[in-house]
Amino acid sequence: MAHFIITIDGPSASGKSTLAKKIAQRLGINYLDSGAFYRSIAAFLVEKGVASEDETFLSSFLQSAKLKLVYEGSFARYYFNDLEVTPFLRKELVAMKASFIAKQKSVRNFVNNNLQEISNKGDFIADGRDLGSKVFPLADVKFFLTATLESRAKRRELEQKTMGIDTSFEKVLEQLRLRDEQDSKRKIDPLVRPDDAFFIDTTSYTTDEVCEEMFIEIKKKFSVQPSLFRTWICVFLKSFFSLFYGFKVMGEEFSRKFLSGLVYANHTSFYDALILLTLLGPKTVFVASERVVRKNFFIRIVTSFFPLILVDDQNMPKDFFRLCIKTIHKGCPLVIFPEGMRSLDGTILPFKVGITSIILHCKLKEVLPIYIGGVYSIWPKGKWFPSFFKKITVLVSKPLHISGHEKGEGKEARVKLTNQLRERLKNLEKHFKETYECRI
Ligand code: C5P
Repeated sequence: MAHFIITIDGPSASGKSTLAKKIAQRLGINYLDSGAFYRSIAAFLVEKGVASEDETFLSSFLQSAKLKLVYEGSFARYYFNDLEVTPFLRKELVAMKASFIAKQKSVRNFVNNNLQEISNKGDFIADGRDLGSKVFPLADVKFFLTATLESRAKRRELEQKTMGIDTSFEKVLEQLRLRDEQDSKRKIDPLVRPDDAFFIDTTSYTTDEVCEEMFIEIKKKFSVQPSLFRTWICVFLKSFFSLFYGFKVMGEEFSRKFLSGLVYANHTSFYDALILLTLLGPKTVFVASERVVRKNFFIRIVTSFFPLILVDDQNMPKDFFRLCIKTIHKGCPLVIFPEGMRSLDGTILPFKVGITSIILHCKLKEVLPIYIGGVYSIWPKGKWFPSFFKKITVLVSKPLHISGHEKGEGKEARVKLTNQLRERLKNLEKHFKETYECRI
């Protein structure tokens, strides 16, 4: 599977869509609502006044049909044969019709093919009835949610009344009972609990409580345990820098809280990556230039012990952003030196746009700027060996919040964000020069 996918299956009104949306927002991925696919077909048929629900008709009708999904931020619009069906999807008549036609093989194949095709375009959290069992059997994490019929009916009644739909508890209860029966008793791909799904009965929990539980499970599946060897290297590096350079970190509390996410730093010396390893720990993953790593034997040896995401100077590798987001969701700090090379005079060079592309593609909400001070005079580019017994001071800033990614795809917005990131590092440099440099 090229991209990662999380599935949530369960009966109607078990809280799947609310939770999927929350988790999608938190992980910065898209939400795929498979029920809306069935509803789109049903809505089109209802709007066009087509009553037929038999397999022969649906099979030939769907052969030339097209379903299109257009994301506007996190909101999705649905088009069926160019008719926008989004406004009709939540009607109860449409839900009932969806449940009826969902029994037909051709309808299920049509929806499943569309779901699988879309899932190849990115990372998704998808909800439905048969996603973990049939559509995405190799999903990275699977959940199965349920709740008692009464509590689901109460939730659905409240939801419908909030939307201004005139209904009653008894009516909703009966509709849900009917849909449960149709969904779990149909012959093809009925609602089932996949063996490898994490089961949650949401009856007596709030949405936030269930969301936390699911999030713990997602983190568990994605988290990596670094090898003992890597852990020892980090311990060794810490002792080495403390002994020979009076290694000092200001603002360490920010890096301790920022356990996984994008970290960026200035780059003047070969020591920089080792210093960041000391600070961020053995799970650290670096974004590195393939060209630099390939041509420098020493760098190749050292980096072979640590995971790298290699980037080509000319083209972004196909899976680059997926690897970045996966790394972050695995609970690893992802480090980039946005200048793209070591500075020859110790000043901060202009940033390449790569860092901004990562932020925008991966929809990151914050990044952590770090300034490494004093290293340039110890081991600048071109010097064969480092000097010892000088001071290294690292300044960790408060994480920088990124807002408005959705609008930030234009060139102007990218340049603005890149400058903003560099400005934050320049401020740290200024602070370092005024406060620490003169004492070194
Ligand atoms: O989840 P939602 O209520 O929007 O789904 C509408 C209907 O579509 C369900 O009642 C169910 O019959 C059908 N469905 C399905 N398989 C899915 C998702 C929905 O059969 N994966």
